[in-house]
Amino acid sequence: MSDNLKIPFAKRLNHIQPFHVMRLLEAAKRKEAQGVAIVHMEIGEPDFDSPAYVIAAAQQALQEKTMHYTPAAGLPELRTAISHFYQCQYKVKIDPARIIVTPGASGALQLALSVLVNSGDSVLMADPGYPCNRHFIRLLDGEPISVPVGKETGYQLTLQQCQTVWTTDTAAVLISSPANPTGSIIATSQLNDIARYVKGQGACLVVDEIYHGLTYDEQPPTALALSEDIFVVNSFSKYFGMTGWRVGWLVAPKVYVEATEKLAQNIFLAACTLSQYAAIAALLPETKIELDKRRDEFKKRRDFLCDAISSLGFEIAAKPEGAFYIYANCQKFSNNSYEFCYELLEQTGVVITPGKDFGCYQAKHHVRFAYTSNLEQLAEGISRLRRYLERRAE
Ligand SMILES: Cc1ncc(COP(=O)(O)O)c(C=O)c1O
Repeated sequence: MSDNLKIPFAKRLNHIQPFHVMRLLEAAKRKEAQGVAIVHMEIGEPDFDSPAYVIAAAQQALQEKTMHYTPAAGLPELRTAISHFYQCQYKVKIDPARIIVTPGASGALQLALSVLVNSGDSVLMADPGYPCNRHFIRLLDGEPISVPVGKETGYQLTLQQCQTVWTTDTAAVLISSPANPTGSIIATSQLNDIARYVKGQGACLVVDEIYHGLTYDEQPPTALALSEDIFVVNSFSKYFGMTGWRVGWLVAPKVYVEATEKLAQNIFLAACTLSQYAAIAALLPETKIELDKRRDEFKKRRDFLCDAISSLGFEIAAKPEGAFYIYANCQKFSNNSYEFCYELLEQTGVVITPGKDFGCYQAKHHVRFAYTSNLEQLAEGISRLRRYLERRAE
């Protein structure tokens, strides 16, 4: 297409932002190519390989099974295994018919929101929060309402906030717990209050539990224990260490199952067949032993990194209770966290994520550290930051 012709992008693209950290990552890769050792504290996926049982199950499936499409809602064996997982893990009985296997939590979020959101409808969510959520809603021509949350509300939405911003156009509330980027877990009573209010308004609650399993002090109940009317999103990406397999799931309220399946058929036909066979092995008790060891390792990293970055002068309003992130206030060093991230990359080779990747509220004063590198790497990153920040303060 010649340069002077207008390229016909859909208008909704104006509302979709890239991950800002990607530009930092490109700069980091250029440095790595020049031989500079980079310490990665920006990556949102576990550094561990996929569990051995998962890989073995995939190899076996390749030899023994056909790799045709599965039913749109997923392999019946996997849906039954996920139902069993809820029984063992949370003592909650979920009919496998309510479980729809998806391409990651991303697929599950898109399905749930597509079933619920009409053009012009609004969806409430926390700011800071997972950035794709507001974009998913924009793709449906809905209106994401980002509600500022801070340490006063434990970085989660409250009932009062929902009531304050509620309008007749509000179709849903979206909660992630543990949350990205703050690692905060919503109190069960708070979640229950919101669930009841949302239902009373004739709207729906969607709870993203992708970081369940990666909780370090206590294990929260699944939202499914509170009500059968809640949509719950989960994934094999994080706790199960299977980001690249692209497999997750949605538990839908019974009355929405048929519509959700219909959409799944049309949008992605089915999740990847090989990954679904592998995911069955992710739910085995043997795999859980390995995954819980990894969780313990993440806890050590969290404890180390929280102490270390606080001692550098970053402020952590509340110790993260889950996921593998620390959302820290960097105002002591800068009022522009994006530029500060570049400065740190340039001066120390440490990559962290600027707050603006997670919304607007106090984004300029915050950065996210991910502890998805081993303790040795984290310690190296901290000593580089310490040397630089001390020099900078002189
Ligand atoms: C809160 C949250 N939800 C959903 C996703 C998407 O995960 P998946 O890889 O399962 O699509 C992520 C990925 O980082 C996330 O942080």
